[in-house]
Amino acid sequence: MPLLGSGLCLMLAGCAYNQSALHPAGRDAEQLSGLTWFMFAGAVVVWAILMGVTVYAVLGRKRPRTEKFADAFIIGGGVAFPTIGLAILLIYGLSLLPNWTSAVEPALRVHVRAEQYWWRFGYELPDGSVIETANELHLPNDATAEFVLTSTDVIHSFWIPALGGKMDAIPGRTNVLRLTPLKVGTYRGVCAEFCGPSHTFMAFPVVVQDAAEFPAWLAAEGAPAVAGSDLFVSTGCGACHTVRGVTENGKVGPDLTHFGSRSTIGAATLPNNRDNLLAWLANPQSIKPGAGMPGYASLPEADRAALADYLMGLR
Ligand code: CUA
Repeated sequence: MPLLGSGLCLMLAGCAYNQSALHPAGRDAEQLSGLTWFMFAGAVVVWAILMGVTVYAVLGRKRPRTEKFADAFIIGGGVAFPTIGLAILLIYGLSLLPNWTSAVEPALRVHVRAEQYWWRFGYELPDGSVIETANELHLPNDATAEFVLTSTDVIHSFWIPALGGKMDAIPGRTNVLRLTPLKVGTYRGVCAEFCGPSHTFMAFPVVVQDAAEFPAWLAAEGAPAVAGSDLFVSTGCGACHTVRGVTENGKVGPDLTHFGSRSTIGAATLPNNRDNLLAWLANPQSIKPGAGMPGYASLPEADRAALADYLMGLR
């Protein structure tokens, strides 16, 4: 029950995160919501005209019409109006197409690799090296970030509704998406393509922070772990997980170097706290069906507690 409780709590807390394309916090999202409201207004106008004509046809005065009126009505309402209306919509829609020229370098490039069911993020540094992290994205405000999207297994879709449109992450293919956040805040990103039993547990907080503060975050993220743990190594956690400076062979699961500083566990499945982490270590499958991580209920309870304390301390 405590799990269900905390899951519910996260879902409720999740409502506080902005995951709405109609509350835009990015340049592309603003354009998309503008297009949405424009189309909605157009639909209301067309609906009102049709209702007006229908009411008039049923209740209006019955009198013979001239052939000239009928022709004008058909040509005006059936040809001219939809042609002009759709042309306006097409021109407006085409004007919103992103204009990415390779000449313009984005302020930041993030390599995004979708996995069943989590996100591997790699921040590219000017020298070409990459700082790896997972399941929580930090972005500088008012700067264009380029996301280089790939997938390990099946097709996923990378979507931060408050910042802009979505794009698929496809195995064997590289897709590129650029987004420009315009408001400091925490938003919610999701996987928008059904990818398996835990598709819905494949989200990520997106922390848009002041551009002046971002380099400090990135530098902290790039630093090695604050502490080592013999237990983490001896229980075999390092076979799948990297903790930089401690064990760096595991590339299967999320990088845990700064796990304690993340706000969620299991790709935004649970809030990151000690109780949830203990439950996750014992039986991840019960929380997230199809998760790649095996359960460690067989470990002595004291070992699991020590691992949880260690991981929570990796800030
Ligand atoms: Cu990944 Cu849905």
